Amino acid sequence: MEDFLSDRVGRIDASGIRKVFALGASLKDPINLSIGQPDFDVPDELKEAAIAAIRGGQNRYSQTAGVCELVEKVCGLAQAEFGWGGARGLISSGVSAGLLLSFMSLINPGDEVIIPDPYFVMYKHLVNLLGGKCVFVDSYPGFELPVDGIREAVSEKTKLIILNSPGNPTGAVYTAEQVKAVAEIAREKGIIVLSDEIYEKFSYAGRPPSIGEYYERSLVLRGFGKAYGMPGWRLGYVVCDECLHEVIEAMTKIQQYTFVCAPTPFQMAAITALEMDVSGHVADYKVKRDIICDGLGDSFEIVTPKGAFYVFIKAPDGMSGTEFVAKAIKSNVLIIPGNVFSERDTHFRISYATSNEKLRQGVEVLRGLV
Ligand SMILES: Cc1ncc(COP(=O)(O)O)c(C=O)c1O
Repeated sequence: MEDFLSDRVGRIDASGIRKVFALGASLKDPINLSIGQPDFDVPDELKEAAIAAIRGGQNRYSQTAGVCELVEKVCGLAQAEFGWGGARGLISSGVSAGLLLSFMSLINPGDEVIIPDPYFVMYKHLVNLLGGKCVFVDSYPGFELPVDGIREAVSEKTKLIILNSPGNPTGAVYTAEQVKAVAEIAREKGIIVLSDEIYEKFSYAGRPPSIGEYYERSLVLRGFGKAYGMPGWRLGYVVCDECLHEVIEAMTKIQQYTFVCAPTPFQMAAITALEMDVSGHVADYKVKRDIICDGLGDSFEIVTPKGAFYVFIKAPDGMSGTEFVAKAIKSNVLIIPGNVFSERDTHFRISYATSNEKLRQGVEVLRGLV
């Protein structure tokens, strides 16, 4: 690596995903089952709200923590949902910025962060970037919340436990009992739990349990990108109980010197979004999940996901995730090797956020590779 680059850049590695994109770039009209964003567009009502905000001159910086009405609204909803005494919140440029600001506010070099494996790819690299230490807790083969493993992983250096349910890449939705058990483990040592709930709306078996209900030292991160088809609008938020107000204040301070604020006109539109019903899309996505799971269930080892829009599937015997993905890409199907999201290289991730027709084509090709 060039010696003018900072040491911290050397701590992150994007090679896995880059390799897939490089291989995919050479394909003409691939069956793309790699995309982590919904295939539906923003509802017209929200487009109109954003256009009205732009035409109405809402094009300046908002308050650092976000447009007051939106902050009040997400805090009010969190208070009602979690029974918090008071709530604090910050609007971030996507959940990604919420993650970075949370980590920057909490993690010192050497601090340990407990992360169930498989995990969303950003956690590992952001923790490493900040000099923290990831402590992975294996959740194979069923991808349930590994409560005992988390209990054993706690040390004097544990700063944070990360939960992500519904999860990327597994689609796992944790049960209330499991989440409560982690709340008890965290409470014993006062450890903060960061709960990434970006797929909260994409749950196929009712409302997914949130740690916010059981533990006051929780940071809950949610977003608008997935549920309303607007990942490019870069909008998310972080909420917590009053007892963690210092974390939100620290995040706001860092936001002031980094992102400044989330995009103002889109924040205005998001006020309307919070009232919208997206259950039609979720029902459509359940059908998509079933096309994949029914189509591949007799050829592959699959844990049927209960949420999000991914399936994390074991590669056929004798093959690593990476080897199987290379084979699939040669057959024009783009999928992601499991080692991008895991310390293991045994699985691959399918995103079913595409048309039912493409999904059926993908199923046929993948079945033919076994
Ligand atoms: C689990 C998880 N968290 C956070 C993000 C980042 O979301 P955003 O686009 O809101 O930054 C993603 C995006 O794929 C995700 O899957």
